[in-house]
Amino acid sequence: MAFFEHVAVIGAGTMGNGIAQTFAAHGSQVSLIDIDAKGLEKGLAAIRASLDKFASKALITKEAADAAFARIAPSGALSSAKSAQLVVEAVVEREDVKRKVFGELDALTAPECILSSNTSSISITKIAAATKRADKVIGMHFMNPVPLMKLVEVIRGQETSSETSARVMACAEALGKVPVEAADYPGFVSNRVLMPMINEAVYCLMEGVSTKEGIDTVMKLGMNHPMGPLALADLIGLDVCLDILNVLHDGLGDPKYRPCPLLKRMVAAGRLGRKTKKGFYEY
Ligand code: CAA
Repeated sequence: MAFFEHVAVIGAGTMGNGIAQTFAAHGSQVSLIDIDAKGLEKGLAAIRASLDKFASKALITKEAADAAFARIAPSGALSSAKSAQLVVEAVVEREDVKRKVFGELDALTAPECILSSNTSSISITKIAAATKRADKVIGMHFMNPVPLMKLVEVIRGQETSSETSARVMACAEALGKVPVEAADYPGFVSNRVLMPMINEAVYCLMEGVSTKEGIDTVMKLGMNHPMGPLALADLIGLDVCLDILNVLHDGLGDPKYRPCPLLKRMVAAGRLGRKTKKGFYEY
């Protein structure tokens, strides 16, 4: 039996579709909600491809892959979240947008429903303040690619209750993930540690310390990272990396977090990484 019978995932982008897949693969009925019909279609295609990949490797059966896919109901309306016991929000990383979505979810869902955000760096406390149930608002930060990555960072806002946190930690475990609790400070743990490394790799490239391949090879073969920091930045999205660095810089006020000018220039040029087929590398 699924930990939560009905889960609503808001946003069908890279993170949202991976989160929806993970819940569906563990037995939940999932409403995958996105206002953009094309985005929804793309998200469903990504889920199908990922489930087929697992089936082709015999990590799951074809029947289990089909059953998981069938448990996902796409929708263009937020009202599809009405009967959910858990909502995971994975919309664009903008505080105003997230606060608006949470305000609407608060009015729509049952009072006992837990409202979580997959935000990578925006304050959970600020998001929770847009609702009348701050005790039931929490960060549930999955890693990309969600179906493969074990970690879920669980972020408690100022008012998040211990009960909410305990349920979300147990839910992450039921998904086969390893949850780690973090306090609500900019970037939490994951991005506070990861982003300065990526930023420093971009500085190395800008200053000609080595080539992109050289920098990534040093970190892959020298530190046993599965991929180099520049390739990882392309996977995450250079715009997302820049947004997170700005949150760290503004929130912690330390110049060590200043985004590298080359990163800013690449984002301005629309080289956002894999999603635009060009970032530090071409795809
Ligand atoms: N579903 C199913 N299978 C998938 C998949 C998915 N979503 N994504 C990749 N795979 C499969 C690939 O198809 C490939 O299969 P084959 O072996 O059959 O070709 C297999 O996984 C291995 O992939 P790759 O050969 O491409 O490369 P890899 O062995 O390096 O593994 C990786 C890929 C798991 C992404 C690995 O490189 C890795 O762990 N990289 C680091 C990822 C990371 O750090 N993520 C965190 C980013 S930060 C974040 O998400 C939070 C934030 O807030 C920014």
